[in-house]
Amino acid sequence: MPPKKLTNTDLEKIVDTNDEWIITRTGIRTRHIVEEDVATSDLSVAAAKIVLEQRGLKGSDIDTIIVCTVTPDMMFPSTACLVQDRLGAKGAWGFDLLAACSGTVFGLTTGAQMIASGAQDRILVIGADTMSKIVDYQDRATCVLFGDAAGAVLLEPSDEPELGLLDYINEVDGSGGNMLYMPAGGSRHPASLETLKQRMHYVHQDGRQVFKWAVRKMTDVCVQILERNGYTPEDVDVLLLHQANGRIISAVADRLGLPSDKAINVIEEYGNTTGATIPLAAREVLNDGRLKKGDLVVMCAVGAGLTAGAALWRWAY
Ligand SMILES: CC(C)(COP(=O)(O)OP(=O)(O)OC[C@H]1O[C@@H](n2cnc3c(N)ncnc32)[C@H](O)[C@@H]1OP(=O)(O)O)[C@@H](O)C(=O)NCCC(=O)NCCS
Repeated sequence: MPPKKLTNTDLEKIVDTNDEWIITRTGIRTRHIVEEDVATSDLSVAAAKIVLEQRGLKGSDIDTIIVCTVTPDMMFPSTACLVQDRLGAKGAWGFDLLAACSGTVFGLTTGAQMIASGAQDRILVIGADTMSKIVDYQDRATCVLFGDAAGAVLLEPSDEPELGLLDYINEVDGSGGNMLYMPAGGSRHPASLETLKQRMHYVHQDGRQVFKWAVRKMTDVCVQILERNGYTPEDVDVLLLHQANGRIISAVADRLGLPSDKAINVIEEYGNTTGATIPLAAREVLNDGRLKKGDLVVMCAVGAGLTAGAALWRWAY
């Protein structure tokens, strides 16, 4: 988490908004943002070092690095390569996974299957974004939502077969791509004076549409994954939802009939940190003891693409 905070009061000085509107409509009070010279790989390396230290491992113990991000340091090489080098993860391979806010669910479910296949032993899945670099601080409807952060998760084989990833549903639906996107900087609209003038290097979204779809889709995939595994919402110990808006989190919990203390909500302090939201929420409940080994956990996220993912876990650590 970068140390610098951007509060609602700070935002009042930048755009026409106010603390009360932001709190009521989003549940966000502050977000952390990076200094100008800090990039996504810097946050990724910092998060990865914490998780390696916790497990007493070195970079060279890692087989694979998956960095889930929409804000890579540059178009290429991938952020995973930059992270591999700085961690000294000699012999590792890796790649960036671009699925916006669903990226970390996609990354964790992909990594878990590589472990299950026996092909890899230690996979570092990093969800990291520096959204402050692509958010338009002239657009009050988006700039209040996002913050910067990284979270790292280490996947390893377990000798307790009932633990770990039980099932997942990952989906993409490109027909909704224009609800949330960054138009320029790729091969369709390479950087030019015109793209800069048109502010095309920033996040564009139809907030109201995204909101409605997010509530519907997250509820839908959570119900599906529970039903097809013979569970009901009452069986869920912890619901780790993507942190996009506090109202989205409570609406999904309500529709599932889950008490709000099971639907983890850490958005007040961090805002929407895209790839990092689920690791951040998990860290919070691991630290305060609400998430324990053996717990039934549903992770669920939706994002630009459109993308959606739900994963059912027996928590293994
Ligand atoms: C963006 C979002 C917070 C807007 O909240 P909303 O309740 O839908 O608000 P609306 O877009 O209907 O706008 C209502 C009014 O508030 C205004 N408004 C928007 N942002 C504002 C702000 N920061 N401060 C004050 N007013 C604001 C709008 O201009 C609009 O004014 P109008 O009625 O005069 O036109 C909400 O739609 C949202 O969170 N959407 C999901 C976005 C998201 O999560 N994206 C990432 C997905 S992974």
